[in-house]
Amino acid sequence: MVSASDFVGRDIISIKDFTRDEIDYILRVAGEMEPLAKTGSDMLKGKIMATLFFEPSTRTRLSFETAMYKLGGSVIGFSGPEASSIMKGESLADTVRVVEKYASIIVLRHPAEGAARFAAEYANVPVINAGSGAEEHPTQALLDLYTIVREKGQIDGLTIALMGDLKYARTIHSLAYALSLYKVRLIFISPELLRMRREILEDIRGRVEVYEQTSIEDVLPEIDVLYVTRIQKERFPDIAEYAKVRGSYRIDLAILKKAKKDLIILHPLPRVDEVSVEVDSTPFAKYFQQVENGVVLRMALLALVLGAIKE
Ligand code: NCD
Repeated sequence: MVSASDFVGRDIISIKDFTRDEIDYILRVAGEMEPLAKTGSDMLKGKIMATLFFEPSTRTRLSFETAMYKLGGSVIGFSGPEASSIMKGESLADTVRVVEKYASIIVLRHPAEGAARFAAEYANVPVINAGSGAEEHPTQALLDLYTIVREKGQIDGLTIALMGDLKYARTIHSLAYALSLYKVRLIFISPELLRMRREILEDIRGRVEVYEQTSIEDVLPEIDVLYVTRIQKERFPDIAEYAKVRGSYRIDLAILKKAKKDLIILHPLPRVDEVSVEVDSTPFAKYFQQVENGVVLRMALLALVLGAIKE
């Protein structure tokens, strides 16, 4: 049986560190945070969260900060390495050892895969991975699951398509692992060059049915949840490769004629051109709802890790 005490002081580095029961527990606590997101609370009064962002961010950083403020805590941090002593040559290890003297929890985004795990080894306070290169983005996956449960009632039984840059999108990697703990059919749709990482496919294949496609047309009528990501241009080692896939997929109203009436479309945002803005005003579009759900989900994580949730 999972209990709140299982999360106290815990790092959140990879979605693979969590069992299905633990994830379901977090999603339940997020539900309990909904009223507190409206009224505010002093659950984390006196606690300080540090956001160390070495890469651009809008939603992840602002929603962690919003979550902390709504629970009565405070926030310090920086939103680009140019503003920190990293520019003077300070190491990530030293940065973390300094910041833990100020804050009870560290939220870290970094371009290097493995950076969050590395930081957690040095820090005596919990570290939350807010994106580690192309590798993982576990809190985004949790808010994606929370959105699916809220919109569809449950995750089991659904056919879920992950579409776009399956190679470099860290949101996709964490979400694919998380979904493989449920009874779902997964359809991966991408240009050939951006197929899902082999090691992830091998890992999840034994647990769930997995299909790979290069186009959405044939499979769209079966899909309950369509999760779209932008091409992660900044992660391409060779810009000529990016040029080959730029603009190669796009969801618009014409394509959606073949969709189930109750299809939901999710996107971690930012969007570039892969979902046409004309889709925004249809009942399919849930990506702005996802943003709102990110706040309650992160409230739940902060409250759990900082020991504010009693059994
Ligand atoms: C994503 C990220 O940073 O990985 N954004 C987010 O956190 N919501 C997705 C992206 O950049 O495409």
